[in-house]
Amino acid sequence: MSSNRGNFSSRIGFILAAAGSAVGLGNIWRFPYLAGQNGGAAFLLIYLICIFLLCFPIMVGEIAIGRAAGSDAMGSYTKLGNKRWGYLGLFGILAGVFILSFYNVVAGWAFGYFLEISFGDLLSEGDFGSFFGAYVNDISDNLWFSLGFMILTALIVSRGIQKGVEAANKIMMPSLYVILVALIIYSLTLPNAMAGVKFYLIPELSEIKVQTIFDGLKQAFFSLSLGMGALITYGSYVSKQQNVVSSAAVISIADSSVAFLAGLMVFPLVFSQNMSPTEGPALVFMVLPEVFSDMGPILGRIVGGGFFLLLCFAALTSTISLLEVPTTYLVDQKKLKRTTVVWGLAILIFIIGLPSMMSQGMIPALNQLPFYQGRDFLTFIADMCDLTLTIGGCLMCIFITYQWKVKNMDNELAIGNAGYMSSFLRKYLHFTISYVCPVLLGILSILIILDKFFGLSNIF
Ligand code: TRP
Repeated sequence: MSSNRGNFSSRIGFILAAAGSAVGLGNIWRFPYLAGQNGGAAFLLIYLICIFLLCFPIMVGEIAIGRAAGSDAMGSYTKLGNKRWGYLGLFGILAGVFILSFYNVVAGWAFGYFLEISFGDLLSEGDFGSFFGAYVNDISDNLWFSLGFMILTALIVSRGIQKGVEAANKIMMPSLYVILVALIIYSLTLPNAMAGVKFYLIPELSEIKVQTIFDGLKQAFFSLSLGMGALITYGSYVSKQQNVVSSAAVISIADSSVAFLAGLMVFPLVFSQNMSPTEGPALVFMVLPEVFSDMGPILGRIVGGGFFLLLCFAALTSTISLLEVPTTYLVDQKKLKRTTVVWGLAILIFIIGLPSMMSQGMIPALNQLPFYQGRDFLTFIADMCDLTLTIGGCLMCIFITYQWKVKNMDNELAIGNAGYMSSFLRKYLHFTISYVCPVLLGILSILIILDKFFGLSNIF
């Protein structure tokens, strides 16, 4: 590994950065609304099964590839495989660019809500549903807030791995846990909170439908930042003394615990207001402000501001990782200067995000795509990215099994982990990476394509 690429300074630095990549809007915005739409506890169950059965092995595989090759996503596949496999890395890098394009729009909403709840008078609005509808349609606010968010991300990434990525995560990740736990304690004290807890924790097995499985899988992949080379990239900055398997375990647990805790905060809040948990993407933007507004002007500002600040922190640690992936690629492969690359990419990705930003009503043609069952452009891009992740994960398993070979992965994993070769985990990883993951992910990816374009889940 060339010394000027930089490295994470320590194991904890890497774990926090990777957990920061994983913990994001996916955990606090998307997980609760998907759980709300898919029967609460039933969704939680499927999600956790996907995390530990399918996602954990893929995370180990990705980090191992990155550390073994010491290069960006495309460079790593090329080095350990060949040029053709390299395109898989490139495909992932492009997926990351598109994820960041819409992710930054949603992060901009969160940023705007934080400012307007803490310092403006958003909480005195009467109808939060129509407020949100108007808000996402207001081009000037959206433009400035998401531009602000992109600039913040670029500022951090341009400072490099240790001073930028690692340092930012070391502050934001612990703060995020503190805010989250404080909000949970508060929400559990509200009247009718227990109905929310029950909805979230006691599974009704009849609620498990095909859609639950599709949503659980895509959410698990997205949430752990898998399938597009983000962890290959971070893995390439990991030192050889580190134990990859145990780091991956800690990252998976840190991420799923934040999703779990976010649900434990959101559902008691929603049920305490006798509101419906099935609101969809607008859940935290429409339902929660109602709750905060009922708390009175001062407490509402503190708790509501705290919540949206939490959302911003989570989003920022993820946008950092999303921008780092194409940055590492251009720095490694094209030998360009880091700062130039970061700002160039930030502007480009911001522009790619404009149609998503304007698809919430501003431009009717983008709001109802005829070829996509009348859904909006942001949803379309997000769904296509989800699909890329599961396909990317499936192909990565095929790469390890048939090209790089499991034995080479073993050798890499044994570095920094003396007991690995004789462990049960080794057998588990072989079995899942060679058989379970590629087969299940292949089948599910095809079914998800059929569902998205032809509405398969209506048939079941
Ligand atoms: N995992 C993040 C979330 O849950 C999103 C994210 C960041 C991501 N980096 C990624 C998703 C890379 C896929 C790939 O919000």
